[in-house]
Amino acid sequence: MSESKVLVDVNNLQKHFSKGKDMRGRDTAVLKAVDGVSFQIRQGETFGLVGESGSGKSTVGRCLLRLYDYTGGEVFFDGQPLGKLGEKGLKPFRRRIQSIFQDPYSSLNLSLNVLELISEPMKIHGIYKGEERKEAVAALLERVGLKREHLYRFPHEFSGGQRQRISIARALSVRPEFVVCDEPISALDVSVQAQVVNMLEDLQSEFGLTYLFIAHDLSMVRHISDRIGVMYGGRLVEVADSDELYDNPLHPYTKALLSSILETDPRKGSQRIRLEGYSGEREAAAQAMLREVSPGHYVALD
Ligand SMILES: Nc1ncnc2c1ncn2[C@@H]1O[C@H](COP(=O)(O)OP(=O)(O)O)[C@@H](O)[C@H]1O
Ligand SMILES: [Mg+2]
Repeated sequence: MSESKVLVDVNNLQKHFSKGKDMRGRDTAVLKAVDGVSFQIRQGETFGLVGESGSGKSTVGRCLLRLYDYTGGEVFFDGQPLGKLGEKGLKPFRRRIQSIFQDPYSSLNLSLNVLELISEPMKIHGIYKGEERKEAVAALLERVGLKREHLYRFPHEFSGGQRQRISIARALSVRPEFVVCDEPISALDVSVQAQVVNMLEDLQSEFGLTYLFIAHDLSMVRHISDRIGVMYGGRLVEVADSDELYDNPLHPYTKALLSSILETDPRKGSQRIRLEGYSGEREAAAQAMLREVSPGHYVALD
């Protein structure tokens, strides 16, 4: 992995939201949803981002997609800073960077049929025309495990897993290089989660894709990620290779998160650390900077 180029370089990213304004419209309080996050993703790599709900994972994803302007810091994609670009400058990146979200019901336009849904991004970016485009959509549909007969059906006629396959086909229709996957399997039945993850992995090697894979727990993310970053309170508290993170977690929050998986294993019940019990250490976690403690293993400890 070390030979491939850095495709995504997140540099001290900050995204604050206003929590209140005074009479002159000035912010009186801000919520630091993302508060100085840095990491890099190499081409072909999957970087997992984990952490409890509200830790800032989706906000990082939305900044990478430039759905948000940043409060501070910068995101470089293939060496180019995205932060200051307007819609015109962003257009090529709106093709090269795609997304898959948790709930296809809110991310898909329900009044469009499958052909329209998948060909819409192709139209916007001028990829194929007429019959050729329809053929490309049909081929893509088959590639994600659906059938040509499904072209004229609507989202409500499919199961949750099938709808997510449609979102994946739509995201891949413009041949992206990088896909932000924000909890793509969290809303799916456990029985189909592994199928969708395996498919994402197959598509990754077939198309040379780079992934940011966001999840709120560590169970599936270990399998798919090369490296994992753990977010807590808008900051990264630990970054390491997936296996290293599981075998040798160093930050107390990472340990707590891991033990919330072990919770389901009755033999290990006594080792469980309650996530709620971690909240007292929040301030310390928010202050400490990431330091490299062994090659590629970074942790924020005082
Ligand atoms: N558009 C927004 N406006 C205001 N606050 C937001 C917005 N999006 C997220 N937040 C807040 O930012 C924090 C991080 O949210 P989010 O990135 O969605 O976390 P996660 O994906 O880890 O659950 C939360 O406190 C959330 O309420
Ligand atoms: Mg989220």
